[in-house]
Amino acid sequence: MLIVRHLSIREGVRMEKDDFKVTPWEVTGDVDYDKLVSRFGTSYLTDDLISRMPGGRENMFLRRKIFYSHRDIGWLLDSYERGNPFYLYTGRGPSSGTHLGHMLPWIFTRQLQEMFDVHLYFQMTDDEKFLFKEQLTLDDTRRATLDNMLDIIAVGFDPARTRIIVDTRDISHLYNIALRVSKKVTFSTAKAVFGFKNSTNIGSIFYTAIQSAPAFLGSDIAGTNVPCLIPCGIDQDPHFRITRDVAPLLGYNKPALIHGKMLPGLSGGKMSSSGNAAIYTTDSDAEIRKKVMNAFTGGRSTVEEQRRLGADPDICPVYHHYEFLLEPSDEALGRIYSDCRSGALLCGDCKKHLLSKILPFMQKHRENREKARDRLDDFVFRGGE
Ligand code: TRP
Repeated sequence: MLIVRHLSIREGVRMEKDDFKVTPWEVTGDVDYDKLVSRFGTSYLTDDLISRMPGGRENMFLRRKIFYSHRDIGWLLDSYERGNPFYLYTGRGPSSGTHLGHMLPWIFTRQLQEMFDVHLYFQMTDDEKFLFKEQLTLDDTRRATLDNMLDIIAVGFDPARTRIIVDTRDISHLYNIALRVSKKVTFSTAKAVFGFKNSTNIGSIFYTAIQSAPAFLGSDIAGTNVPCLIPCGIDQDPHFRITRDVAPLLGYNKPALIHGKMLPGLSGGKMSSSGNAAIYTTDSDAEIRKKVMNAFTGGRSTVEEQRRLGADPDICPVYHHYEFLLEPSDEALGRIYSDCRSGALLCGDCKKHLLSKILPFMQKHRENREKARDRLDDFVFRGGE
């Protein structure tokens, strides 16, 4: 049974190689991250650039090229090295609970905040999710906002330097910027970038202006241009292409970007909120255990075959969970990789080992998440900071 799935996925990789789709709202097919760099026209994050970041080479996400692509990081670092501060901006579209795939860029953003000792705006786009998800009401997306904020705070951002902006609550601080942005973006640009149709609701067409706003907010508040760095999944790049195009027209710097890969779901493919393959921060240990033990792997159909032929970590979401998040030691990761390839490591044991990493990680997160309930006020954006 397993071998059938295994082969069909491999067939799929061959057939769909050119057939994947990455937009801010939809990721389908087998994502080729190298092709995205040329499709989107971004640049690879080179070792030279990484070593210019304080602690860059020690950072797991950078070293392993989980965050692997960028726009204008060289320019940002030049300016930083000359003593100019910058600020970070990232966000979350609150449509459902938080899973591990969401947390990965947040953890990286917290590390960037620590590395550079900088301010962060975290945008909660409850408006976006209301507009783009047919079935969601504004109450739904507000509820998800509050729920997701607990996870964001639990990741450990510095409350003195982090402000969470909730679009529907804090719109008065964004609206003037969004208006100025929207006046510079034509409908034909929005159609070309996002694939909008005549049947698209008009709120969705305007929305990108709202996602641009925090990239300029720091400059408006400071009264002078302050460079902005946006860590995000590469699927968000289309929004910021627009932001960068309009920036000079409005007298701002273009924001710099650092793009991450997306954590694959445990049944293969992006860890989607609709599938059952994502590990949520509210899952019980029993649910997590079940998801991990049922995960798709790069394994063979029988123990005998696996011992003889080895398995394929490159297509295995269990392996990717170690690589992307849960095994910080390169040496230990390398051992898992080669033991998998050689057939020394069987999938059942590998999954149990992964559980021994995930369960304490989630336990700790759940504790921090509970503590976050009393700390929401510490992160409220009040304008002017
Ligand atoms: N659109 C993003 C999402 O759906 C949310 C978001 C808003 C964001 N601003 C951002 C993500 C800046 C990364 C960086 O999740």
